[in-house]
Amino acid sequence: MVERDVTAALAALEAHRVEVGHHTIADLFAEDPTRFERLQLRLGDLLFDYSKHRITDATLAHLIALARAARLEERRHALFAGEKVNLTEGRPALHMALRNFSGRPVMVDGRDVMGDVIAEREKVNAFAAGVRDGRICGAGGAPFTDIVNIGIGGSDLGPAMAARALSPFAKPGLRTHFVANVDGADLADTLAPLNLATTLFIISSKTFSTQETMTNAASARARVAAALGEEAIGDHFCAVSTKLDLVAKFGIQPDRVFGFWDWVGGRYSLWSSIGLALAISIGPENFEDFLRGGHEADDHFEQAPLEENIPVMMGLLGIWYRNVWGFGAHAVIPYDQRLARFPSYLQQLDMESNGKSVRRHGGPVTMATAPVIWGEPGTNGQHAFFQMLHQGTDIIPIDFLVAAEPTAADEHHHRLLFANCLAQAEALMRGRSRHEVDMILARQGLHGEALSALAPHKVFAGNRPSSMFLYRRLDPHMLGRLVALYEHKVFVQSAIWDINAFDQWGVELGKELAGRLAPIVADDAASTEGLDGSTAGLIAYRRGLVG
Ligand code: F6P
Repeated sequence: MVERDVTAALAALEAHRVEVGHHTIADLFAEDPTRFERLQLRLGDLLFDYSKHRITDATLAHLIALARAARLEERRHALFAGEKVNLTEGRPALHMALRNFSGRPVMVDGRDVMGDVIAEREKVNAFAAGVRDGRICGAGGAPFTDIVNIGIGGSDLGPAMAARALSPFAKPGLRTHFVANVDGADLADTLAPLNLATTLFIISSKTFSTQETMTNAASARARVAAALGEEAIGDHFCAVSTKLDLVAKFGIQPDRVFGFWDWVGGRYSLWSSIGLALAISIGPENFEDFLRGGHEADDHFEQAPLEENIPVMMGLLGIWYRNVWGFGAHAVIPYDQRLARFPSYLQQLDMESNGKSVRRHGGPVTMATAPVIWGEPGTNGQHAFFQMLHQGTDIIPIDFLVAAEPTAADEHHHRLLFANCLAQAEALMRGRSRHEVDMILARQGLHGEALSALAPHKVFAGNRPSSMFLYRRLDPHMLGRLVALYEHKVFVQSAIWDINAFDQWGVELGKELAGRLAPIVADDAASTEGLDGSTAGLIAYRRGLVG
């Protein structure tokens, strides 16, 4: 029934696309002077402008009909009600509880978890405050100057992204670093300039068994023991995990272990104790502001009608391009150097959540799911890949993000940054026709064959869609809003595609095979029998190179 309704709504959108295809976005602006006012949504000072899209009022009506066909409102209700929406792991997905300031209970298996959430947050805050004011210090009594978070995926990308984004709010003299890769270069290069006597390590791992994190943690532990003595370990290590028994085995003091719960997915865990490095860096008050920004976005997503709901609109526009126009990628371009890691963060959030081809109840997905998410900060991208965005054969919808005013940066630079951001969105939409190019070249004195030879290269097709997120400034509250809006966008799309956004079985096979290959790579005499020809051949070739 739901499937039939979704198929019908998609077919209607498909037919409607032909109609919309007769108009460019620029035409739609010319026809409707109120377009910008009508096609925008607000959340506090954040303006989400979705006027530069290939959409009309009829498109929006069709997209909302699709959302209703997929029972989005019911799915949203189930999410917030704590139903076990993560079907394959039999868990709810309640990261919203970590930023719930409503005073309302959040029930898991018939029990309100808010008491536990608040207690754990207070523990994080007290520890963060202690590190910041020097009460919690290194074994030799010196205050910490460097915090090294060892974790990967959701136990790295969130705090790393946010610590960079909010660096103006960091305590001066207290630096945060993030080590993720099992490549020893990551740990070595991070530790090289650090004084271990004033370095605090946070081992962040939901499962406390991830190969990369455990390998890095063991190496860091050995480095500290060698430099400061085994007895210093207790002072220089703390951990964040749901597996408290495994943490205890590692030898971390119980009062330095911060927990969270299995109903918080790794890529949704920045709001939990996994945010410890961020909380230490920006302080408990700013960390709470970040959580409150997320909570504001939750309220908006939960309560705003579909038509006025920012994550719903973000998600549906993505579906429009992915499933009706067939565009396979989506770019996120923050005009904010400090959001440099935001696209990487969103890659995990979006692609690990929705990069699936099986529906919730096991049937095959019959339409395209997660597009490739990628991006880099502007203006740098303009001098690298924007050529393709403007004139390439693929159309890539873009999210631009920009602040009205700089945070701890030069005002003059910021105005240039802002102008560039708007100019790119405008250029992508307007393009430049052959007629305009001919006129420009003629004015420059080019005629005849010379003009004809050059002109086609200077034509921009235009009609390339983008959204704009414009907000006063990037502060903890704003970052909280942004992250939670994207989380909910991912959920909206999962509802349309009928997939479970909260498991990640696709990462398991590689882990399993790496576990099987590791001993063969470790022992150059080990047999490669039974491996495929390429894998065996590559191992043999490596042995030749190093042997
Ligand atoms: O391999 C994928 C993954 O399980 C992610 O979902 C997760 O964020 C990451 O690994 C790290 O896991 P953990 O926090 O358990 O070390």
